[in-house]
Amino acid sequence: MTLDLSEVQQFYDRFGKKQDLQGFYEDPALDELIGHARFDEAKSVFEFGCGTGRFAARLLSDHLPASATYCGCDLSRTMVDLARERLASYGDRAQVLQSEGGIRFPLSDHSVDRIVSTYVLDLLSESDIEAFLHEAYRVIEAGGTMCVVSLTRGTTFASRIVSGIWAAIFRMRASLVGGCRPIRLEPYIDEGAWEVAYQKVVIAYGVPSDVLIVRARES
Ligand SMILES: C[S@@+](CC[C@H](N)C(=O)[O-])C[C@H]1O[C@@H](n2cnc3c(N)ncnc32)[C@H](O)[C@@H]1O
Repeated sequence: MTLDLSEVQQFYDRFGKKQDLQGFYEDPALDELIGHARFDEAKSVFEFGCGTGRFAARLLSDHLPASATYCGCDLSRTMVDLARERLASYGDRAQVLQSEGGIRFPLSDHSVDRIVSTYVLDLLSESDIEAFLHEAYRVIEAGGTMCVVSLTRGTTFASRIVSGIWAAIFRMRASLVGGCRPIRLEPYIDEGAWEVAYQKVVIAYGVPSDVLIVRARES
């Protein structure tokens, strides 16, 4: 069972800056995402569950055009404060919003061309993942790109053991692993709405991550 909203909020309020220590297995997957998502052509990015703002800072400093804007949201007050502090130097180009946890983005229809969410869908319930994809399709422009990364099941002997142990800990006590469990992203994708542009399982220190980039079809 996934954690409920208040458990997620409490966990990440306490976890705070420690989230950045997950970089040892997250960064290789994020590098893969950046390598294939054409952020240099982006105009407006929305990130769901931005955490400490680490990925946003990387996008803004190294990958987005100077004219591109960024909007992130997070459920955790601690994370929102950390991300705001980290992105303060980008002024009006970057804003971070406090979310109440509902899967409803503070954006109008077809108003962004990139949606990003890394290591967040793996802590949502199945119905919330479906709601996320529905909402993403509402706010993205036709031809826009959604970039998601999550923990996933292993594809090699070592990574199958790691993801198996991770899943077992999740079943025993989800809060020990921040509410996250290995999932596969592609089965959630409605091929009538999204075209898969890139998918790869990246393994770092035995931890497998699913990197998925999909393009929104015309509605
Ligand atoms: C595992 S952390 C990942 C943070 C960041 N994306 C990264 O890759 O480092 C998950 C983040 O999602 C946020 N989160 C979880 N559920 C959320 C929801 N329903 N709405 C907004 N943020 C949420 C948590 O507060 C936390 O900051």
